[in-house]
Amino acid sequence: MFEYRGFMLDSARHMQKIEEIKKLIDTLPLLKINKFHWHLTDDQGWRFESEKFPELNSAGIRPYSDFGKTYVNEPHGRVYTKDEMREIVAYCAERGIEVIPEFDIPGHTSALLSAIPYLSCTGEDVKIKTHQGIFKDVLCLAKEETYNTVIQIIDEFLEIFPGEYFHIGGDETPSKHWKSCPECQKHMKELGVENYTEYQNCFMNRIVDYLESKGRHCIVWNDSAKAGNLDKRAIIQYWKESPKPTVSFLNEGGKAILSPFSYCYFDYDYNITPLNRTYSLKADLPGLTEEGKKNIIGIEGTLWTEYVTENQQLEKLIFPRLIALSKVALGESGKPYNEFIKDVQEIKNQLKGIEFCDEKDWTKPRASMIYGWLKYVRENITIDFVKELIS
Ligand code: ACM
Ligand code: ZN
Repeated sequence: MFEYRGFMLDSARHMQKIEEIKKLIDTLPLLKINKFHWHLTDDQGWRFESEKFPELNSAGIRPYSDFGKTYVNEPHGRVYTKDEMREIVAYCAERGIEVIPEFDIPGHTSALLSAIPYLSCTGEDVKIKTHQGIFKDVLCLAKEETYNTVIQIIDEFLEIFPGEYFHIGGDETPSKHWKSCPECQKHMKELGVENYTEYQNCFMNRIVDYLESKGRHCIVWNDSAKAGNLDKRAIIQYWKESPKPTVSFLNEGGKAILSPFSYCYFDYDYNITPLNRTYSLKADLPGLTEEGKKNIIGIEGTLWTEYVTENQQLEKLIFPRLIALSKVALGESGKPYNEFIKDVQEIKNQLKGIEFCDEKDWTKPRASMIYGWLKYVRENITIDFVKELIS
């Protein structure tokens, strides 16, 4: 059984009502999920109310949404007030659940930069994003101002979220602007770093150091593991690409949480990630030593919400896959799948009022997985996405 058994909700792309989040939290104790990872900042939304930077409170609202499948020509979202976030923290605490906020830096920061543009390399106006993608509007890591501002925002987060862990993102951070920023180029030379992931990690390590000084442990997405200089006090959340860097990190004494996307990302259709796939996750990575294996502290399922606009849809994507993941995290996934399904039925009966995916769709034949992937590529590889990649 893992000490860390998590579920992540993306409230940045589409935010949920407090009552909807509470309804979800109500299900977690039965599944023995004890960490609620709350993704609050991204390119398409900023959900954390700030007193120090009130400009963030309105800049994080998206004027319209164009996520490929859907186009909604009206503003989306607002910040969660500090009282609302405290309410969620207290609600979780009563149920033995720690809330882990995610402030995603230094990429996925378009919404932040739309409010505080001087933290970018160019200082130019940045717009909050209205579509999906990986965006080049990232923080300039050469400016002390960036570090100071980020720390001030983190301090505000720490007042609300008292837990042991803090997620600082670190995923999908293009280096385009760093390449042409004289200050970043100078700073890289001073630091003696050889590539942009090492450069990013110098920044991440400063944040890790700061949070450790406050008694908190940082979690970062595994993108940071690609360079060998990530502080070993950071905890890697493995989600994609080669597991080798994460394996080295674990074998050398670092810690990690496993969320390989093809098992743990619940935003994918059941065609792509059927229930039996999630249930088949092994808490292992190729090349781990016995010691390295012991350094895996947990498992987490995630729900990203670019396409998730309705609460019914949200619940159907999560259930019953979160039950499968909880069994893996609890070390109880040894039972044959058919017997596990009986447990799912029992748990479903106890989770009255929660929308489950229709049972006929839980597990599909292989052919529908291929169809699912083709459909996914068609819907996700939009013109905007490709433009952003090649620009
Ligand atoms: C991620 O899915 N971008 C961590
Ligand atoms: Zn720069």
